[in-house]
Amino acid sequence: MSDEKTPAAPSGQSLVIAVDGPAASGKGTIARALARHFKLPHMDTGLLYRAVALNLFRFGGDPGSEFEAMRACDLTSVSLDDPDLRSEVVGSIASRISAYPSVREKLLERQRGFAAQRGGAVLDGRDIGTVIAPDADVKLFVTAAVEVRARRRLAELLARGISAHIEDVIIDLKARDSRDSGRSSAPLAQAEDAELLDTSAMEIEEAIAAAIAIVDKHIG
Ligand code: CDP
Repeated sequence: MSDEKTPAAPSGQSLVIAVDGPAASGKGTIARALARHFKLPHMDTGLLYRAVALNLFRFGGDPGSEFEAMRACDLTSVSLDDPDLRSEVVGSIASRISAYPSVREKLLERQRGFAAQRGGAVLDGRDIGTVIAPDADVKLFVTAAVEVRARRRLAELLARGISAHIEDVIIDLKARDSRDSGRSSAPLAQAEDAELLDTSAMEIEEAIAAAIAIVDKHIG
């Protein structure tokens, strides 16, 4: 994640793009591609929740305790490049601790600051268009059928040398979807003014082209 504030204004203007969607919908790949195309810095906000989860896991904290999860929000000892952030166990803890309002509150300022930098930014997550950057210039809600997302997640896992069964991946994704959408604090939801991009029947290059076309249409 390019978490650094890099000056990157396409033509001296500011452009904030919010990309939200469920797990394995393609939102991360699309957000990175948009950032490259529009020369904007990018933040994968899921990594922040994963960093809290990894911190908590390393000090043996209980994901069931909001207090302990909140204490794990001091991210000074976690590198956002740590490969362990991508592990399934960390993803699953992240999905639990991200439901705590105090955890979300602790991570709010960093994300809002990133979105507000000069020139703009691309952020992807679950609540970017609704909570972090409600005034974003362009909002995309990227989704795909759960079976398609499961096949993508499975391919990612296999590429990392982790074997898994498609049925288990589907169960895990459904559990995450319902936790993310059902929580009371900043649930996963499509902002009213977000454009829906269903990538179920798209190859990644097609999805990226569609996302760029949506942004181009909005910025005229
Ligand atoms: O794509 P995947 O769900 O595996 O992971 P992620 O995008 O890295 O996010 C990890 C977890 O953090 C998710 O399960 C969400 O519950 C949570 N999250 C969130 O609540 N709000 C965000 N803006 C980003 C992630």
